[in-house]
Amino acid sequence: MTDKTRPTAEFDTEAVWAAEEGPFPYGAATMPIVNSATFAYPDLDSWQAVALHQREGHIYSRNSNPTLAVLEAKIARLDGTEAGAGFATGMAAISSTLFALLSPGDRVVSIKDSYGGTNVLFEEFLPRFGIQATLCNTSDFAQLEREIALGCKLLYLETPTNPTLKVVDIERLSAIAHHHGAVVVTDNTFATPYNQLPAALGSDLVLYSATKFLGGHSDVMGGLVTGRAELVQRVHHFREIAGATLHADAAYAILRGMKTLGLRMARHNQSAQTIAEHLRRHPKVVAVYYPGLDTHPGHAIAARQMRGFGGVLSFVPRGGAPELRTVLNALQLAQRAAHLGGVATTAGPPAVTSHVELTAEERARAGIPETLIRYSVGIEDATDLIADLDQALARI
Ligand SMILES: Cc1ncc(COP(=O)(O)O)c(C=O)c1O
Repeated sequence: MTDKTRPTAEFDTEAVWAAEEGPFPYGAATMPIVNSATFAYPDLDSWQAVALHQREGHIYSRNSNPTLAVLEAKIARLDGTEAGAGFATGMAAISSTLFALLSPGDRVVSIKDSYGGTNVLFEEFLPRFGIQATLCNTSDFAQLEREIALGCKLLYLETPTNPTLKVVDIERLSAIAHHHGAVVVTDNTFATPYNQLPAALGSDLVLYSATKFLGGHSDVMGGLVTGRAELVQRVHHFREIAGATLHADAAYAILRGMKTLGLRMARHNQSAQTIAEHLRRHPKVVAVYYPGLDTHPGHAIAARQMRGFGGVLSFVPRGGAPELRTVLNALQLAQRAAHLGGVATTAGPPAVTSHVELTAEERARAGIPETLIRYSVGIEDATDLIADLDQALARI
């Protein structure tokens, strides 16, 4: 643990209480789901006072909603930031952030290993609007520093990365970016605020696919942005017009999930570490990617900037495509699904999960083996998961 993380007790208390101190309407014990498209006022003056921000209140749920506002305040508190904004999906949060902050002629510096959908934004959509993205080798900090120094409006980071769990030094790169006047944005989906606080390390904005660990139960989609109030306000303004606002029902489900985030992440961290160490010694496994392993190239940075190493690991079984199929199909305690961060373990190869948008050649160029299995460790008993992996690997 470093001074850039906070003690467990405080996180678990905040996860329950932050922004939910109450009192709630009707004496309810939780913030109700306010399923109202619009908000009605008894007279024009009170309506106008809210519309002109002279009084607190809500006008229209595309712009703001009481249930969503509680979630936005909660994630900002857990991240140690000034403000938050909620989106319909993680990709809505990411694309809205980029389109809100960038203009034609701007340049973005990022890493090659960001989430596949984010990569498509950089390579296909941003260039259409005259915005150039330079994607550097994720572990080559010298190259990243050189590209930042050439001038950029925005540095976009993700750590640990999906699916090879590379680790990026947020503090070091944020300092360089700020020196050159760039805004730093970090996708913290894999780590969550339990394991990593990018804002404390210098990131101006922090992004989440709340669909993953924050929701935690594979039953809701959402995206969140937190950070400096002035920047979040610009992203929020774009959301009001582009319209990808998170629905109150989904905001409630994510709020409920976040109350147990600390409990779940502690289990995810512990089980993933145990399973990674088991697989590292397994004769049928040729490679294991997990930042908690001391042999992982990013281990030292991860140990400095993270409290725990997260619930996702990847491994490559011995053999080729047939063996990959054998192992995946034999797993009984893993959903074969394009997902991660749920209470149930999920497993899948990048070709149908994180990098489904890329061709096989593009995945090869990005250094992602076709026979890699991304394994998101759920909250099941680790002994059972290990037994399941062993029986599946025994078939090759
Ligand atoms: C790291 C990361 N960021 C963003 C996303 C996109 O989130 P969503 O699927 O909620 O749009 C994902 C989805 O897998 C992800 O893994």
